[in-house]
Amino acid sequence: MRSRAAPAGAGARVLSKSALRQPALNLVNVTLEYPDGDGTLKALDDVSFKVHAGEFVSLIGPSGSGKSSLLAVAATLVRPSAGLVLIDGQDAGGLPDAGCTALRRNKLGIIFQQPNLLPSLTAMEQLVITQRLRGGAARAAAERAAGLLDLVGLGHALAKRPHQLSGGQRQRVNIARALMGNPAVLLVDEPTAALDHPRSEAIVRLLRQVTDEFSVATVMVTHDTDFVPLTDAVASMRDGRLSSMAATPAAADTRLGAPRLG
Ligand SMILES: Nc1ncnc2c1ncn2[C@@H]1O[C@H](COP(=O)(O)OP(=O)(O)OP(=O)(O)O)[C@@H](O)[C@H]1O
Ligand SMILES: [Mg+2]
Repeated sequence: MRSRAAPAGAGARVLSKSALRQPALNLVNVTLEYPDGDGTLKALDDVSFKVHAGEFVSLIGPSGSGKSSLLAVAATLVRPSAGLVLIDGQDAGGLPDAGCTALRRNKLGIIFQQPNLLPSLTAMEQLVITQRLRGGAARAAAERAAGLLDLVGLGHALAKRPHQLSGGQRQRVNIARALMGNPAVLLVDEPTAALDHPRSEAIVRLLRQVTDEFSVATVMVTHDTDFVPLTDAVASMRDGRLSSMAATPAAADTRLGAPRLG
């Protein structure tokens, strides 16, 4: 696990390594246009955005500024009108739809506000089924699922179905499920919007923990700026453009630096 309180020398080393490393997520000059009456609406306007393994970035901005559009493009769910989407160095734009599906399955973890769990399945089964779709062996899938559910604090609830779990617990199953494929990038859209403040904070702390433990590149859209200090950097969107990117004070303390725009 990466230390959040590294001495300055070690921090400087991390920063220089991060400058050399290939980003896990790299959007290059991405524009996304939708038809809008006689014209077009630019949901994303020439956005460049990099996140490295082990970095946790908050994405904030007013409603309609393009936050979910950025995640949808990064998730390869929507193809941009222009620009490059590189996941772990792989150019998603060069892939057919089936290739994007495989990339999503193998490299991406996607967590949206509503966990969208299958009502009839237990917590264990929600996770195991995703690994079986990847072609994983049943026993290995069950072991990994049990380990991840334990990690998210649900070791006692493996056999519970969604209606037997609280909102926060359902979101924990969702997070564990997103980690089953050992993703390089975790894309999270308002994971706490349906939760009260203490449960929201616990979820963001859990995302911090898994970002560190699995060295995943995490982008979290949030309206709640209270939790921004738990992340390494904050990116702001306005009218489809990334208007700023800054290291949070906690990240500056450990001299990890912010992911760079462009
Ligand atoms: N499928 C679509 N078709 C047409 N326009 C769309 C579509 N999806 C998003 N938009 C438009 O793109 C812009 C950005 O939307 P987006 O959902 O990315 O905003 P957001 O920042 O996530 O907002 P919120 O905080 O309300 O979730 C908005 O003007 C929205 O109306
Ligand atoms: Mg949104």
